[in-house]
Amino acid sequence: GSKKVTMQRVRKAVLPVAGLGTRFLPATKAMPKEMLTVVDRPVIQHAVQEALASGIEQLIFVTGRGKTAIEDHFDHAFELEATLQARGKHDALETVEATNFPPGTIAYVRQQEPLGLGHAVWCARHVIGDEPFAVLLPDDIILGDEPCLAQLLEVYDRLDAPGANLIGVEAVEPELTRKFGVLDIDRWDADGTSFSAKGIVEKPEPEVAPSNMAVFGRYILDPSVLRHLDRQEKGTGGEIQLTDAIDASIRDGVLTYGHLCEGQRFDCGSKTGFVLANVAYALQDPELGPGLLPAIKALIED
Ligand code: UTP
Repeated sequence: GSKKVTMQRVRKAVLPVAGLGTRFLPATKAMPKEMLTVVDRPVIQHAVQEALASGIEQLIFVTGRGKTAIEDHFDHAFELEATLQARGKHDALETVEATNFPPGTIAYVRQQEPLGLGHAVWCARHVIGDEPFAVLLPDDIILGDEPCLAQLLEVYDRLDAPGANLIGVEAVEPELTRKFGVLDIDRWDADGTSFSAKGIVEKPEPEVAPSNMAVFGRYILDPSVLRHLDRQEKGTGGEIQLTDAIDASIRDGVLTYGHLCEGQRFDCGSKTGFVLANVAYALQDPELGPGLLPAIKALIED
């Protein structure tokens, strides 16, 4: 008889952090761009907290040269912790301890050469194994009530389609499609928040873009996508693109969906997005917001 294929829980998330961060030079000369801070925590910590709050159990960081500050950030800081303890600075101690997780929560894989996002994910293939996994691009941080990845995981469970891909999307101005991966819509669901896709294109010019549904940095992927990445084919910009591998999966018949996530997204990989993220997060901070708002208003009126 035929056996019903059951949904596997998404336990692992890949966080690619091996990019060069050239847009932030000279800040990123000796420091990874993921360690730039949005208010009081590094950009990467926002994505890590989102993943853990969404129920992810294992984080796989794809790192490269010059990224050791990230590993140190998510480790014991023995001297600092001892000093804070001795001085009775308990709040600060708690803040520091909250960046250290149970042993085995984070695995590090090295991408020796930045050959593209698809290649970065492929570098994690042995750690991912044969189960569905999430990908979070830490450049994107999302301000909102429910963690973005949790929203996707809920939709993923509701789809009840073992082996499917689900991609977080955002409607963008048509002239901006050349900055994103863009999905080709097959059909929308009844409530107009999710759709099935019949293709995906990396950075299309507006004239040829199949839609304005742009991929940002949140994915749930079936491991079969890794088999396409095995071919190491270069795409747009000479990089091995995750988008191309997903497109090949769709052509193989892998069901792939897009979902419009709620929340305000900031692209911290760009200077404008990074500055805006700082302003937005500071304004919603109960300690900083009230003092900051009049100061910002004064700055604008000057
Ligand atoms: P970006 O396109 O933002 O490139 O990468 P970048 O090198 O990080 O930054 P710029 O453009 O030079 O300023 C998107 C995401 O993919 C990761 C990056 O770390 C980032 O999270 N990535 C990209 C890799 O891990 N490896 C790569 O080979 C390329």
